Amino acid sequence: MTKFLGRLAGVLCALIIFFSCSNPSEKSKNTQSRFDEKVDSLLALMTLEEKIGQLNQYSLGSEFTGPGNKKGQDSIRYQQLVSGQVGSVLNLLGAENTRKMQKLVIENTRLGIPLLFAYDVIHGYQTMFPVPLAESASWNLDLMQKTAQAAAAESAASGLHWTFAPMIDVTVDARWGRVMEGAGEDPFLQSEIAKARINGFQGQDLSHNKTIAATAKHFAGYGYAESGKDYNSVNINNYILHNHILPPFKAASKANVASFMNAFNDINVVPATANQYLLQDVLREEWNYDGVVVSDWNSIGELVNHGVSADLKEAAKKAISAGSEIDMEGNAYVENLSNLVESGEIDEELINKAVKHVLQLKFELGLFDDPYKYSDPEREKEIVGNEIHHDLAEEIAKESIVLLKNEESLLPIKNAKNIAVIGPLAKDKDTPLGNWRAQAIANSAVSLYEGLEQSLPKNINLKYAEGVKLSIGPNNFFEEQVINETDNSGFEEAKKLAENSDLVIMALGETAYMSGEGRSRADIGLPGLQKELLKEIHAINPNIVLVLMNGRPLELSWEDENIPAIVEAWHLGQRAGTAIAETLLGKNNPSGKLTMSFPRTVGQLPIYYNHKITGRPSTAPGQVFYTHHTDVDNSPLYTFGFGLSYSEFEYGEIELSQNSMNENENITASVSIQNISEVDGYEIVQLYIQDLVAEETPMIKSLKAFKKVEVKAGQSVKVDFSINKEMLSYYKSNGELSLEKGKFNVFIGGNSTVEHHQKLELK
Ligand code: NOJ
Repeated sequence: MTKFLGRLAGVLCALIIFFSCSNPSEKSKNTQSRFDEKVDSLLALMTLEEKIGQLNQYSLGSEFTGPGNKKGQDSIRYQQLVSGQVGSVLNLLGAENTRKMQKLVIENTRLGIPLLFAYDVIHGYQTMFPVPLAESASWNLDLMQKTAQAAAAESAASGLHWTFAPMIDVTVDARWGRVMEGAGEDPFLQSEIAKARINGFQGQDLSHNKTIAATAKHFAGYGYAESGKDYNSVNINNYILHNHILPPFKAASKANVASFMNAFNDINVVPATANQYLLQDVLREEWNYDGVVVSDWNSIGELVNHGVSADLKEAAKKAISAGSEIDMEGNAYVENLSNLVESGEIDEELINKAVKHVLQLKFELGLFDDPYKYSDPEREKEIVGNEIHHDLAEEIAKESIVLLKNEESLLPIKNAKNIAVIGPLAKDKDTPLGNWRAQAIANSAVSLYEGLEQSLPKNINLKYAEGVKLSIGPNNFFEEQVINETDNSGFEEAKKLAENSDLVIMALGETAYMSGEGRSRADIGLPGLQKELLKEIHAINPNIVLVLMNGRPLELSWEDENIPAIVEAWHLGQRAGTAIAETLLGKNNPSGKLTMSFPRTVGQLPIYYNHKITGRPSTAPGQVFYTHHTDVDNSPLYTFGFGLSYSEFEYGEIELSQNSMNENENITASVSIQNISEVDGYEIVQLYIQDLVAEETPMIKSLKAFKKVEVKAGQSVKVDFSINKEMLSYYKSNGELSLEKGKFNVFIGGNSTVEHHQKLELK
């Protein structure tokens, strides 16, 4: 009888909600108050167990869509699913599977609250775009928004509602494997890209069936893991926190990102997942953030490993009190929250708040209007992996390539008749898909060799030798890569080929799974025997174009000294080979610029352009007692913002509309850029500001604006930037924004080492 009444209430409630549904064309987050009433009335009907269920997230496979699998943990989870104790599901994919599981929940649970389906859609769902670090090198916000939009359309058509992206951790240490997932070392650029990606995923209307909810992750500090070792502790001062780490998250919050994800790490002795300061003081109070906070995978459970909780119950108490709302794969909430409320250790109001955020997101996605709207097999067939998305992947891949060196204009390839293509990645159709590849089809990328075959004139001889194996054994997300350190049996064949060729293209780097989560490396040179092979080939034929495929900055000092042309081609996604080949041949003029510094040696790490000046500045050589390493130059090998082009650009004088301003004024900084070459090209014009005297030690300079402009051969383009007071302010260690009168330098140039500047005074 009780069960029957319960069901009846559920049906009535579902009906009320269904008929009072919203207009899907309205903007989602900004109109969230529209849902407050609905959320409150639904919440009022829920039991404590049902509320806790909304905070419980599992990773479930398709076997859970039927009652068949009922053993052990599966059986418990199945029961939880059909009794409303699961609110969201991770890793279940496909229109059919998601529809089936949704049906199971809608039809069996008392209130019929739809599930949320989440997945890591990091740089594409099935169509793979360049890994995010590569994409960021395009500095093309519009294109990055489009790739996120395409990824959202594919995901949504496969039944998904929510991606755990973008990763917006500022990263200054290339040893950390996850640098491939973000946009590099600069907080301003990272913020701009965060907004573009969030807008791309979420669009104007979350309830549209081509958009999905995004996640700002990992909150916070994950990119500062000590010694670049994944999951390691983060110890940073508050200046770094407020000026480097938090700005992209603040930008994401302002852009109405639907969710935030905790970081695994502790930050200044408090784990991020139980961090009251970050989750309450900053996120909720200062930024007024109103979306949902999801833990990282079992990061609530890991509070026990961190040594701040004796058991899962205490971990649950700490996490929910701090403001971690959904427990991803931790079992901490589902097993403990109810006892914690009953014993009075936590107030049910804490749970109510969290559940409201979850329900609100479900309303925003339109799931109460139609829980199956995203799970449409027809749309799935039509949208997933379509040609338009592949074309977009090629377009952004071309803009993501960074030309690092081009001695004597070896590139674009001109007179070579016999070209050797050597290296383990030359014919590799899988590596360009990168790590965190969602539903990419293995080996589906265009390889470099295929790209060359398609693009080269037929009278050119193209020959191939692998030269050396890079990884041996498993090549997947879950297992450690085994690098070939001994087998050089392919060297001879490759050397012979190099000897008989006019030009050698060498494709070296990292396989897809050498960067990414859990892939920190202490040595960031070319892995395995690749450098040895490169040296031996170089001794025979130095006419080498080195094409690098990798997910992080590498240590390339020897290569830079000896190899005449170096092309950074990252893991460029679906049409990598086409994009690289067209660049080598000059059909595409490279325009990408680095968003993370490449060190000269790993001992320089962490290295980033916007560091402090110090009391003994690094620019005072010729003496011993200044900040430096005795055995390496102070600068990175390739700095932030650097990248060459086949065009040559000359910058004119910087002109300021006024040399001084007050805080209510905006002034204009202008510069003209001339293309003195015979090739049309794109230049990424960067504006940096240096605060000369501040109350807290300033950064040497920081990026404040940029524009990517086309400059036709022989022509000039004038670029204007508006300078406002925000660009002259910084966060003090107490978190307050500070605008201090005084002198500033305004730099405009083609990379972060630019010296050209004008003086500006804030009065
Ligand atoms: C762990 C990763 O840190 C996080 O970024 C990801 O979203 C989750 N696993 C879910 O796969």
